[in-house]
Amino acid sequence: MRPWQHQGGFQHELLVLGDPVHSDAASANQDYHGPLSRPPISPAKRNFRWLDMIRGSAILGIGGALGHDANAALLVDGRLISASQEERFTRIKHEWNFPRSAILDCLNRAGLGPERVDVCAFAEKPLQSLLFDQVGRPTSRLTWLLAKLVPEEWVDSRFPRHTQPWSPMTYVREARRMFPKTPFRFAWHHLSHASAAFAASPFEQAAFLCLDGKGEDISASIGIATGKRTKILYELPCENGLGLLYTLVTYYLGFDSLGSEYKVMGLAPFGEPTFVQKLRDFAPSDANGALRLTRHVNFTPTSMSQAIDALARHLSVAARKRKEPLSNAHIDIAASLQTIFEEEVLKMARFARKATRQTDLLFCGGCAQNCVAAGKIRRSGLFNRVFTSPVSSDMGTALGAALLVHQELNSSCGGKIDPNGFYLGCEPGDAPLEASRYRLPIGGTVHKTAARLLAEGKVVGWVRGRMELGARALGARSILGDPRVEDMQSVLNLKIKFRESFRPFAPAILAEDSAEWFDAEGPSNYMEYTAYLLPKHRYSVPAGLSGLSERLHFPRCRLPSVVHVDYSARLQTVRRSVHPDFHKLISEFKRLTGVPMIINTSFNVSGQPIVRTAEEAWQCFRHTDIDYLVLNDAIYDNPNDKTREEKTSWARQFEKYS
Ligand SMILES: [Fe+2]
Repeated sequence: MRPWQHQGGFQHELLVLGDPVHSDAASANQDYHGPLSRPPISPAKRNFRWLDMIRGSAILGIGGALGHDANAALLVDGRLISASQEERFTRIKHEWNFPRSAILDCLNRAGLGPERVDVCAFAEKPLQSLLFDQVGRPTSRLTWLLAKLVPEEWVDSRFPRHTQPWSPMTYVREARRMFPKTPFRFAWHHLSHASAAFAASPFEQAAFLCLDGKGEDISASIGIATGKRTKILYELPCENGLGLLYTLVTYYLGFDSLGSEYKVMGLAPFGEPTFVQKLRDFAPSDANGALRLTRHVNFTPTSMSQAIDALARHLSVAARKRKEPLSNAHIDIAASLQTIFEEEVLKMARFARKATRQTDLLFCGGCAQNCVAAGKIRRSGLFNRVFTSPVSSDMGTALGAALLVHQELNSSCGGKIDPNGFYLGCEPGDAPLEASRYRLPIGGTVHKTAARLLAEGKVVGWVRGRMELGARALGARSILGDPRVEDMQSVLNLKIKFRESFRPFAPAILAEDSAEWFDAEGPSNYMEYTAYLLPKHRYSVPAGLSGLSERLHFPRCRLPSVVHVDYSARLQTVRRSVHPDFHKLISEFKRLTGVPMIINTSFNVSGQPIVRTAEEAWQCFRHTDIDYLVLNDAIYDNPNDKTREEKTSWARQFEKYS
């Protein structure tokens, strides 16, 4: 396998079209004509100066052009105004098409028209991605030279007919229609990840480990982020893809819809890692976590399908078809994959520590959503502090790209944002008219009433305020339950979420009480990592439990719905300062029950994007067995006017994305 490649003179820094501009240099010379001060297409036509932009800039980030999770984010004068995911508008999970609706939502929130956007910042380099797609192999040095030598204005003038719906070129073309006079900038994909992580972190300077499927032609990068610079020092080419291996095995296990890797992570604790050696023979690695599949694999359907066949032959276990029962061998393969993933990530983190000599780490990129691995890095002691990006997957890259441009234009600015609990989307709007018939009288506050209903074992939909950015529901679009109820996990999974029974739920726990229940290593405001239930709360488990069902249903503690079979839990520690409204609700629940946590799962059914509007919440409510719906400041009873068949048929429309 190829080892980590030191970038040396080829460092990916910021936008890498010449040296980054420094504000002091810029302000000292109003005629500065460095790369950023150069108008990108025609100065005469645009009548535009980059230096004007520094004084009052609206920077629109656009991300998702690599094939999933299209998203947008808007910074005005360095302040994060809004960030949205396109899937929340089109209702197609992981939407890959150009994020037109998300962009308009961001602009509406700021009260700006498209003509008021000073620059569009893309979270991918289109020419470099195109080159990789054409060649099918990483071309690191050539990629870098391309970024240095080819003017960015060529991107939308020389490649107009590239027609893949999600390609970076298509994104550029669509954006040009929407923003005919706006300059475009293109950030390296991994720098976009790192930048978003850094801006939300408490660090002034840190190493970053970015790990995903692919960004341009690399799969992993290690670098340093500060308020003034974000640069990649080492990188691994796509073929060294730990993310690629995880995706391949995920598909092999029959979870073949985009973004299903977390299901394998959830399945892993039920198995034994008996296939580790065989998987390692298929994808050996070196001491620093540079792993390489023994056959060439790309993220294309044909390539993946051939690789799945090869993997089945190698493991001597047939690939599982979607919806087939899970065999013990398949569960053990999931456990083995997760074991390898954790070991490799730890090797990479160790290398990052040595290579950067930094004491704090940012863990980002799509693979950072593996909250079990994130927890392992924290507990490893390799770094003093570890911050896992709350928007680690591509849905946070628009934010990162916008921040990079802002950082480049204002190099003294520090590049920090106030994520406000990552409630960066829109409000739900008013309840539909028909809901008024089912509105309940509230004695006291909505929090008190909802807490009482939860304590009575009811399932409550909770839709209040601006919605969350990212994959997790953080208490703005959530389905809530009482973790003490023994069968709550199967009720929620099978009757409400319409998903696999083994999938665990996350506890949202008051931050001030988390240490009493879990071995929490610092805050997890955004469900970034898993912690383990303290031994004093565990029940003893008899030896000899076998099979998924037996292991799943044996109660392991007082709060069986939020603790996995290995006593792990993906915590959301809820702080009053970060999530005040949600904190108030859980505090009321604690007052009634003595338990400082509730189940928090996203408000959707399997395969459906999280609900955004009041209308979407109402429809999901009516077609599931959620008992009550809190919508803004009102509580509604479920009309229960749908048959089981109607409910399952409604949920089936999302099945292909589940
Ligand atoms: Fe990515």
